[in-house]
Amino acid sequence: MRTRNWRTDASLAAFPCGVPILHPKNFFGRSAEIRRIREAGAVRLPHHLFVSGPRHSGKTSLLRFVEFLPHAAPEDLNSGIEPGYAGRRPIFVDLHDPRMWHLDQFLNSILKRAGLAAVSSIDRFTAALAEASPMTILLDDVEEAARLDPSVWDALRFLGASRSGSVNIIMSSTYSIGELWDRYETLRPLLRVTGHEILLGPLAGPEARELIASSPVPFPEEDEDWILENSGKEPCWLQILCDFCLRHLRGDRDAEWKTRALARCNAIMRLRGSCGQF
Ligand SMILES: Nc1ncnc2c1ncn2[C@@H]1O[C@H](COP(=O)(O)OP(=O)(O)OP(=O)(O)O)[C@@H](O)[C@H]1O
Ligand SMILES: [Mg+2]
Repeated sequence: MRTRNWRTDASLAAFPCGVPILHPKNFFGRSAEIRRIREAGAVRLPHHLFVSGPRHSGKTSLLRFVEFLPHAAPEDLNSGIEPGYAGRRPIFVDLHDPRMWHLDQFLNSILKRAGLAAVSSIDRFTAALAEASPMTILLDDVEEAARLDPSVWDALRFLGASRSGSVNIIMSSTYSIGELWDRYETLRPLLRVTGHEILLGPLAGPEARELIASSPVPFPEEDEDWILENSGKEPCWLQILCDFCLRHLRGDRDAEWKTRALARCNAIMRLRGSCGQF
């Protein structure tokens, strides 16, 4: 994951878009959200958070970044974020992986990443986690987990509400807690212990400017202002507009690049609208 000359590292796209951010040097901002997630993990007694935001708002990127924090060196990170994570081991569970829809694979993937032996029942899973070192379980797109045997949510609810405080849960969804509650009865045990919600919105001004300034070719000031204004500082739109601007400066010389860039954002926005959740 680490690289020093990341601006010239051909394996890193300058402005990745479409897939979640997987390299910390491509991750910008969210310092307030990360502080809240860290604080939830740092308290001795359990504290669980729910991250909600529209499609492409950066939910998976944020959870993947938290997963990386314990392994980060200061030079891996953009400004405003310290390495390290709350004395807990963050474990990201990819609920889009069809293997995770089988209960035994779901349980044992968590145990394996916690450095614990595989088990064959929920009871043994619960006992193993109750004794384990503190961990944060990151459940991205938690509605995908509604396919799992509901007994797992009772187990996590028990662990998440116990004095041992060994398990702290951060989940994300494009749905709000209320919508999940209405739609997915099996997830209710988990939702019951989740008190606080983080809503993912745009980046702060200096965070958005830092993303733009990461370009290997500096942007003219007027283009930077145009990108800030037209992206609404949403990371997904920032990445797309920056990518068009960079390709223009690198030689595409497309006089219509701004029109094309906005058309691309509109096409993605229609996808966002079509999921009908926000
Ligand atoms: N913190 C960030 N820094 C830089 N770019 C980001 C950040 N967060 C998101 N992005 C950009 O937004 C895009 C969408 O991010 P991501 O896939 O994490 O969103 P999501 O909310 O998980 O989307 P979905 O609802 O489709 O699962 C990424 O491909 C990336 O271009
Ligand atoms: Mg996602």
